[in-house]
Amino acid sequence: MERTLTLVQHRTPESVARRLLQASAAHSFDPSVDVDWGAPRQEDAWYLQPERLSLYGTALWDRMDERQRVELSRREIGSHVGMSTWFELCTIRMFADYLESRDIRDPRTHYALTEIGDETRHLIMFGRLLAEMGAPVYGPPAHLRRLFSVFSPTFGDLTSFALILVLEEVLIRVQRETARDERVQPLIRRICRIHVTEEVRHVSFARAELHDAVRRTSRARLAYHRELTGFGAWMAMRSLLHRSVYDGLVPDPAAARREAARNPHYRETLLWSAEKLVGFLTEAGMITRAEHHWWRRAGLMR
Ligand SMILES: [Fe+2]
Ligand SMILES: [Fe+2]
Repeated sequence: MERTLTLVQHRTPESVARRLLQASAAHSFDPSVDVDWGAPRQEDAWYLQPERLSLYGTALWDRMDERQRVELSRREIGSHVGMSTWFELCTIRMFADYLESRDIRDPRTHYALTEIGDETRHLIMFGRLLAEMGAPVYGPPAHLRRLFSVFSPTFGDLTSFALILVLEEVLIRVQRETARDERVQPLIRRICRIHVTEEVRHVSFARAELHDAVRRTSRARLAYHRELTGFGAWMAMRSLLHRSVYDGLVPDPAAARREAARNPHYRETLLWSAEKLVGFLTEAGMITRAEHHWWRRAGLMR
């Protein structure tokens, strides 16, 4: 244990960036050649593992037939991917701000540029996946776009990296499981595997940068960023599942939304997806008791 702590302390943002640059050079993917886009779709295969769906285990789920359940899985991954494309565009914008004050000779700068490159390829990969699946394209609600425009100029490195971590860690946890699940369409499993491999590096970078930013920030500023991060996490999580995913699929979409909101299985899925994230942010000083209400509202904390 002591040895692990010493190793962590000696890991500087520069050394993390150097390691990630090497890993990126060795294991990066080009979705135009590393994904078999022409492979036939499997009849009746899931698009997302059923146990992670918002209605799984509810009375409504019991009344749905297999075709409706599979269709729900197609729409829910469509919503995750649609929202991810917006989140990744936001990430690119936050990275552009981060880069403005950095030295072009610094390995941290080089890794940030590499990560923008990864996200650019992910956006193309997600766009092709949505086109291939024929799923509706669910974008972010207008109020979320407006809130991002108003608040993002005050994010700084702290809130930027904390919010990047929220989305990356939650989605990685689900996608890692999706990639392994043989009931899921092979195309989706392949894309999840590629995405997780590159996103794990993004998480390492964001964690190192966040530690560094916390160290440089005064207590008063830190309190503001904790509040902003908690609020941002709540707004992002409540948009992950688009409110129209049930439209045309079940007789009463509003009742389905209510049933999903109080579904204990889905609540457990959200808590499970954020276990490591909430532990890390608490340990890093980005979540204290004062912000627990945001994280509970986001469904990421008990
Ligand atoms: Fe990504
Ligand atoms: Fe990422």
